[in-house]
Amino acid sequence: MQDRPFSPPRIVVALDFPDPQPALRFVQQLDPQRCRIKVGKELFTRAGTSVVERLTGSGFDLFLDLKFHDIPNTVAGACAAAADLGVWMINVHALGGRRMMEAARSAIDRCSHRPLLTAVTILTSMNENALHEIGLQGTPQQNVRRLAALARESGMDGVVCSPHEAAELRRQHGAGFCLVTPGVRPCWAGKGDQERIMTPAEACRSGADYLVVGRPVTAAPDPLKALAAIEEELPG
Ligand code: C5P
Repeated sequence: MQDRPFSPPRIVVALDFPDPQPALRFVQQLDPQRCRIKVGKELFTRAGTSVVERLTGSGFDLFLDLKFHDIPNTVAGACAAAADLGVWMINVHALGGRRMMEAARSAIDRCSHRPLLTAVTILTSMNENALHEIGLQGTPQQNVRRLAALARESGMDGVVCSPHEAAELRRQHGAGFCLVTPGVRPCWAGKGDQERIMTPAEACRSGADYLVVGRPVTAAPDPLKALAAIEEELPG
């Protein structure tokens, strides 16, 4: 793991809270040396850029998970705006296609602060039936393989994928391609709406660089204990 260009901490806690106050209170318990944090559509839509600025201001590396998916010009502008917030990572949907991802890359490359730019392949909540319903043939794995290759060709720093696809993507794309995996569930946590899940230890062994963990920590009776239990099972 040490030869990777991506650095610890590897756990990214998803702050899927409905309001900024509980999110900010929750984060006060956390340590930026031990985890990164993620703000997604729910919290961002409620609280906007101010919550992002407060969280980055308290020393955390922040993944702004807004999964942009629109025409190239719009996504480029959105990516530049996100980069200007000083965040650590942003993302787009690989399903937006090559031109959209290339526009995002160019926009970030013109910014003075350049966050990691990743592409969501297939949502970890989608199984094969769900893909067929939207007209995508083949297994999640086949779709992820194709979209990850396209994302890399289009200049993405890495992809968001399920831990189930991490080992294959690591072999195909090498150590320099960042793999971010949600769908992480310790054996003691509920699956919720996720489908393609693995434990934190399995996800790391499969080659994931960063593990996105939400409800197993945020909904735990003792979130710090839950975080410590996850850290403990990660390979050193
Ligand atoms: O609570 P849980 O651990 O399932 O949270 C997973 C987080 O990762 C959520 O914030 C979700 O939006 C995000 N995510 C995901 N699947 C993706 C990309 C992001 O679950 N493909």
